[in-house]
Amino acid sequence: MADLTATAHERREQIRARAASIGIDDAYISRLVDAFYDRIRVHPALGPIFEEVIGGDWGAHLARMKSFWASVALNAGAYRGKPVPAHQKLVRVQPGHFGIWLALFRQTLEDTAPTGEAVDYFMERANRIAESLQLAMFGLPGLPVNRP
Ligand code: HEM
Repeated sequence: MADLTATAHERREQIRARAASIGIDDAYISRLVDAFYDRIRVHPALGPIFEEVIGGDWGAHLARMKSFWASVALNAGAYRGKPVPAHQKLVRVQPGHFGIWLALFRQTLEDTAPTGEAVDYFMERANRIAESLQLAMFGLPGLPVNRP
């Protein structure tokens, strides 16, 4: 149960401690992101979409994604990007690509995560974010698409 009187710092420590108890820390996030994008890069459907945008600058993308996942999973607060516009400009991406992305993310977690709880912890968050990205990119069925 969350302590409603905790300061932001105390809350962050509580989240970190809970994540650490199921094996999630900065070191695991770094391994997860490296392993996931190694698979993305060679994936026949997703690889070319990333390659077109990221080109030679995978180092910057990986660093950004490690900071993103540390914010999402550990409440680390360092990530300052804007995922919605970053994806809205990807006109090649179709709704079906999200299922592929999520399946590849789950498989990477199942192959690398220290505990089963860690798999669920990341997948819960990835599913939620994927849903909101798809809503922003493709809209609700039957409503106009909100794409620039
Ligand atoms: C079909 C699925 C997806 C594709 C093809 C895709 C592709 C990409 C590409 C190409 C970029 C680089 C954009 C740039 O640097 O300009 C990017 C950035 C990013 N993606 Fe995805 N993505 C997908 C799903 C997701 C999901 C499900 C998440 C989160 C759970 C996510 C999180 C992010 C974040 C945080 C960034 C960095 C945004 C920024 O700060 O600029 N993506 N994605």
